Amino acid sequence: MKNLKIAIIGCGNLGLSIVNGLLETEGFNANNLYVTKRHPESLFYLKPQGIEVTSDNKYAAQEADMVILGVKPYNIPHILKEIAPVLSPEKQTIISLATGVTLEDMYQHLPNEIGVFRAMPNIAADIKESITCICGKNGSTETENHIKALFNSIGISIVIEEHLMEAATVLGACGIAYVLRFMRAMTQGGIQIGFDAQTANAIVNQTVKGAAELIIKKGIHPEAAIDKVTTPKGCTIVGLNEMEHHGFSAAMVKGVLASYEKIEK
Ligand SMILES: NC(=O)c1ccc[n+]([C@@H]2O[C@H](COP(=O)([O-])OP(=O)(O)OC[C@H]3O[C@@H](n4cnc5c(N)ncnc54)[C@H](OP(=O)(O)O)[C@@H]3O)[C@@H](O)[C@H]2O)c1
Repeated sequence: MKNLKIAIIGCGNLGLSIVNGLLETEGFNANNLYVTKRHPESLFYLKPQGIEVTSDNKYAAQEADMVILGVKPYNIPHILKEIAPVLSPEKQTIISLATGVTLEDMYQHLPNEIGVFRAMPNIAADIKESITCICGKNGSTETENHIKALFNSIGISIVIEEHLMEAATVLGACGIAYVLRFMRAMTQGGIQIGFDAQTANAIVNQTVKGAAELIIKKGIHPEAAIDKVTTPKGCTIVGLNEMEHHGFSAAMVKGVLASYEKIEK
């Protein structure tokens, strides 16, 4: 990946997270990075590090081996039409971050032989803790490995079938918001039982981080960890059962389904 040239067409929130991740990746050469926006002035601070900042999408795409599309889904067709004339299947691979734009949609505007991938990261990319789901067509194993390495620089990545990309959006990208809403509710409970907001927040943040890291590092199912906390007739099981009586798990599953149905429409 060291010598690959990467263009990020439409370097907004997510694009910048990728830039930040790459800049912290050992051996990555910032001179190999091209970022674009229609109004690129806000990215000029990246120039001293060697990154090329421009509004010229065609130029950036032509120079790059990996062309990442960070624009909104509705911008994808005209961006593809704009850059298609400078793309060659022997050189470039396209990687779209856009929600709901299929590989087939993109091939409407691209040569059939070119490698096209979709990647669905989340906003934790900003701190190199994203989960990125990837699918693609026409990429060699080497290209796939480069793409995985690229997204591993902002967290971890997994390759999935394209028909699961919308489900990946819900679980991975929308999922961050579900967890944050859960944390807000827990903090509110903490305030009601006596903590000031800041202390409640600090306790909740570390508790959620600890819970996630515990099951990741031990490789166990959440329920196995829950069993260790729920003393018979104790306060934890009473609290958990009360939450379930009010539809806690059902509300989460229904929310996941509602987000999924919204994307499917
Ligand atoms: N945010 C998330 O959690 C998340 C997660 C997974 C996937 N996604 C997907 O990632 C994509 C980007 O999301 P985002 O949150 O990063 O959006 P964003 O912050 O709005 O970034 C989009 C960027 O595209 C630029 N742009 C628009 N038209 C352009 C053009 N013709 N040429 C070059 N640049 C152009 C905009 O800058 P100018 O106006 O200056 O051109 C803007 O900076 C979306 O497709 C979204 O579906 C987002």
